[in-house]
Amino acid sequence: MKRIIDKNKFGPWAIVTGASSGLGKEFARQLAADGLNIVLVARRVSLLEELGNELAKEFKIQYRTVEADLSEESAIKKISDATDDLEVGILLSNAGTGNVRKFFSTEVSEHKYILQLNAISHLYLTHYFGKKMADRKRGGILLTGAMGATDGVPYMANEAGTKGYIQSLGKSLHTELREYGLHITVLVTTPTETPVFYKLGFTKKNTPVQPITVEQCVNEALCALSKNKITVLPGLKFRIMNALTPSAISREMSGKMMKKNNGIF
Ligand SMILES: NC(=O)c1ccc[n+]([C@@H]2O[C@H](COP(=O)([O-])OP(=O)(O)OC[C@H]3O[C@@H](n4cnc5c(N)ncnc54)[C@H](OP(=O)(O)O)[C@@H]3O)[C@@H](O)[C@H]2O)c1
Repeated sequence: MKRIIDKNKFGPWAIVTGASSGLGKEFARQLAADGLNIVLVARRVSLLEELGNELAKEFKIQYRTVEADLSEESAIKKISDATDDLEVGILLSNAGTGNVRKFFSTEVSEHKYILQLNAISHLYLTHYFGKKMADRKRGGILLTGAMGATDGVPYMANEAGTKGYIQSLGKSLHTELREYGLHITVLVTTPTETPVFYKLGFTKKNTPVQPITVEQCVNEALCALSKNKITVLPGLKFRIMNALTPSAISREMSGKMMKKNNGIF
């Protein structure tokens, strides 16, 4: 398999949040295939152990698991304590989730949970690991955002806000941290076949454009990071759709789809 990430430039360790499932699991796999040792972070530690074991056997790499709930402020301390002795050259800040609901049907405390998980935890991780990379003058950070976030997504208003934050944070730092030689890329995640895709009410039948595979999404994202592209929007069909659809139409369409697919009246 063709190598994407140069372990001599970005290694020896990478940290991947949300590694127990979907995109994070595949990020861990493709980074391990490039010879990087991996710190796997999520709440379901048994899945992380299983994956770590598998990757260590298949790619002869080392791994470490960290059980952390990124919706809690204390997660960053847990992660920093567990990785203090490692040289982390790649941060894949990927964990996140969302719900499709009316804004007022969701308690403010639940909105805050999403804000902490989807936005603030990415800030903490980027600040902590980015500073260490800047001191060493090498490293790469990939932040997982979402397509449509900057246009707004009705019935996912807070989630869209958090992903919009990530996009702006990443794009700003892409330029600001260039002087340290860091690569920073925002993954503007397009519909990809993972558990979250189904959780949001999509199926292959009710979506007009089929989701891409996790392998494709992750491959395109890592290629973009290695080339230090500011953003990456995986899948040609989604890039065309994004370029041709005006923001107001995209917002209206996603609102209608969210409502219909999730039985919101
Ligand atoms: N798939 C898509 O179409 C799509 C579209 C737009 C954006 N995204 C974004 O892509 C990222 C990855 O999602 P996915 O599609 O791969 O979905 P997924 O398969 O559900 O994976 C989500 C990952 O995040 C972790 N996570 C969730 N809550 C957490 C918490 N409180 N603390 C720590 N880890 C937590 C989960 O691990 P545990 O449950 O074990 O903690 C899991 O590993 C997310 O940020 C999502 O918003 C995906």
